Amino acid sequence: MKIFIDTADLNEIKEIASWGILDGVTTNPTLLAKCGRSFQDIIDEIFTLVDGPINLEVLSEKADDMVREAKQIVSKIPQKYHKNITIKIPMDSEGLIAVKALCKDGIKTNVTLIFSANQALLAAKAGATFVSPFIGRLDDNGQEGMHVIEEIMDIFCNYDIETEVIVASIRHPIHVIEAARLGADIATIPPEVIRKMMKHPLTDAGIKSFLKDWEKVKK
Ligand code: G3P
Repeated sequence: MKIFIDTADLNEIKEIASWGILDGVTTNPTLLAKCGRSFQDIIDEIFTLVDGPINLEVLSEKADDMVREAKQIVSKIPQKYHKNITIKIPMDSEGLIAVKALCKDGIKTNVTLIFSANQALLAAKAGATFVSPFIGRLDDNGQEGMHVIEEIMDIFCNYDIETEVIVASIRHPIHVIEAARLGADIATIPPEVIRKMMKHPLTDAGIKSFLKDWEKVKK
């Protein structure tokens, strides 16, 4: 399973990318707003940090405007990074029209705010490169988010659908394990959850005791 980081925090991206485990980055307007820098400044730097899909969301509501906005984003990114640009498009009928048009122009899309397998199926039919079901928000709403991932994986597998499934709105490490067990293509994970995945108290205790014992024999 590929791991994307779900943040626009450049320090977090830089540090976690240095561990050699990152395959891409997802952002959204809320995550960008937390950074206190301009959109263009932040994204220019993100492209230099991770060589993989970098997901940037459009905010227009009409399909034509979404396509225009997407092309404007692409035009401001240096050519050498174009292969990594992925445009996040919200899941509605205007979004589907925009996905179809961008797909024709060879621009990668990630249909976001997906909450059902039917939405994922429609997004895939329109030509989405990725779909992003938000499992944490489903859990918050009293529905089993992971059940939707299971349904999408079954359907995409039945028809050899190439659209990749990004498990999004991940809240804790168990979500990541469940996503991987279901064979999801990608999990996009907040930095604090990636740190929790890396840590185990028994690992820390083991390192400490090995170092202590080494002191006794090293001379
Ligand atoms: O990738 C989706 C994510 O950014 C939304 O997560 O925690 O706001 O539901 P959350």
